[in-house]
Amino acid sequence: MEIIRTPVEMTIWANRTLAAGQTIGLVPTMGFFHEGHLRLMRKAGEKAERTVVSLFVNPIQFGANEDLGRYPRDFARDCQLAEGEGMDVLFAPEVQTMYPAEASTRVIVSGLTDGLCGASRPGHFAGVTTVVAKLFHIIKPHCAVFGRKDFQQLAVIARMVADLNWDVEIIGHPIVREADGLAMSSRNVYLSVPERQAALCLFRAIGHARRRVRTGLVEAKVLLLEVEELLLQEAVTIEYVSLVDQTTLQPQAVLRKGAVLAMAVNVGATRLIDNDNLFEEN
Ligand code: PAJ
Repeated sequence: MEIIRTPVEMTIWANRTLAAGQTIGLVPTMGFFHEGHLRLMRKAGEKAERTVVSLFVNPIQFGANEDLGRYPRDFARDCQLAEGEGMDVLFAPEVQTMYPAEASTRVIVSGLTDGLCGASRPGHFAGVTTVVAKLFHIIKPHCAVFGRKDFQQLAVIARMVADLNWDVEIIGHPIVREADGLAMSSRNVYLSVPERQAALCLFRAIGHARRRVRTGLVEAKVLLLEVEELLLQEAVTIEYVSLVDQTTLQPQAVLRKGAVLAMAVNVGATRLIDNDNLFEEN
């Protein structure tokens, strides 16, 4: 596996690969890999002849009071894991080469970014779409794989690609969970043992919502109250619990196909998100 450190060298690799008639698959990440990231890499490997995983803790998607400074990192381990998945390139640029002092452009998707995580993290999605747009230009992928764990992020990126007529296939990958149901996340390392236990309420809420929908409940208001009550049985604070349509991200009052239960909670100092497409088999 090649480790590439600058956008210029990355684009030279991309141009050479395209000139050889090969397809490129990309997995954008912020590193500290877990099984979720590795499964995205495997998916990219099935979809494209050459694969790039990017590792960049993107400063502009973190708010002033967020965890940029303490975001977990282990470059040596990440290299080993990416190599083990057969990635051709690990692209790990320095902040200065991605955002030189004079950089002053942002890519902004409006509407879809207003609610859910966008409401409590102003500027977050502009940071995400800006870096993903840059990665697409630098790496020129035919396809890029994103996890449904960040389902608003996936919807926003799909919107950006459609709106800008971008010829890149966006592939969504199901949420990868620990054996007990906790959605894998680089941030799970922040959790103490009791917090890790409390965090399981998110998966319990999903199980509850699925059962209620399966047995005919259609009133979103009722389910939202039940889910909130269930979450608050643990020592967590709720940032949001919503039932929204999977593509428009608009609230559904009457639950139907495409309904996603989306939640963000704080467990101690750690912010966790989870979601589930309630009418989809999993
Ligand atoms: P990061 O949090 O490192 O996640 C990288 C990719 O892995 C995202 O597409 C995310 O949805 C996916 N992922 C994380 N945990 C997952 C899980 N348990 N199951 C399935 N997929 C999972 O998301 C980002 O980085 C950044 O915002 C990025 C897109 C790289 C832009 O900076």
